[in-house]
Amino acid sequence: MIGFLVVISVLFFESKCLDQRDTSFCDPKYSGSSYAVPHPQFCDKYVTCQRGLAQVYVCEDGLAYHPSKGCRPLHTVDCSSRPFLQPPKGSGSCRRRYGIFADPRGCGRFFKCVNDSAIPDKCASGLTFDEKSIGCRESSPEEAEQCQELALLGCNVDPSGDLSSCTWFRCPSDDTYPYGDHSRHPYPGNCGFYILCIRGGQVKIQGCPEGSVYSVESSSCESEVNSTSCKSPRNLVPLVHKLPSPSSSKFN
Ligand SMILES: *[C@@H]1O[C@H](CO)[C@@H](O)[C@H](O)[C@H]1NC(C)=O
Ligand SMILES: *[C@@H]1O[C@H](CO)[C@@H](O)[C@H](O)[C@H]1NC(C)=O
Repeated sequence: MIGFLVVISVLFFESKCLDQRDTSFCDPKYSGSSYAVPHPQFCDKYVTCQRGLAQVYVCEDGLAYHPSKGCRPLHTVDCSSRPFLQPPKGSGSCRRRYGIFADPRGCGRFFKCVNDSAIPDKCASGLTFDEKSIGCRESSPEEAEQCQELALLGCNVDPSGDLSSCTWFRCPSDDTYPYGDHSRHPYPGNCGFYILCIRGGQVKIQGCPEGSVYSVESSSCESEVNSTSCKSPRNLVPLVHKLPSPSSSKFN
């Protein structure tokens, strides 16, 4: 199943006159009328013919000339017979001043560029942005795993592990940061992990090394064998971003 986006709704008709005059573009048979024709080589240029006199125009960067619709988003115009384009003039996240471009951070993120302003957007949850088709498609298993959002007790977390937006866990407002720059707290439902409250407001989840569990008494990871506070079975999950969402425990 592919969920394509129809993302560009802005009307693009801007174009610039290049002021190149050349009668060879125009058909002498129709010298009495005014009309526009696609440029024979450049997909983003067109030629107007008025009384046999040609004038070349170029669409805004990122748009291409459609014979009946004018300057339209590049991906909606068939450029196979006139493959040339003006050099890209975009900056930052916009390769061209108009168009839709993938966000290098991936995970379904993309930018809509309008006159070189990048408007961030995102595919529906679980879908990946595809720059070739300019749409959202189903993620491959690898992409899905890479972009798995942490769902911890109903709270979505960035793949970076940042929990700051969570509502179920709040760092103590009078945090004394006993470990220099952070304090540690048990992670509810899985003693293989603990929560770090970092000075400055960031919240992170830390995993204990294999064979060890977080001890509330010592506020550190201790041998699983000797642990009194963590009763097995402990959920063995190697990476923070692969954390399952614990659903059995309540935490208020
Ligand atoms: C596009 O942005 C430039 C400045 O970066 C501005 O001068 C120009 O008027 C804008 N064009 C449109 C169509 O908004
Ligand atoms: C468990 O605790 C005992 C005594 O408290 C200690 O001798 C032993 O080394 C500990 N085991 C591990 C794996 O840390």
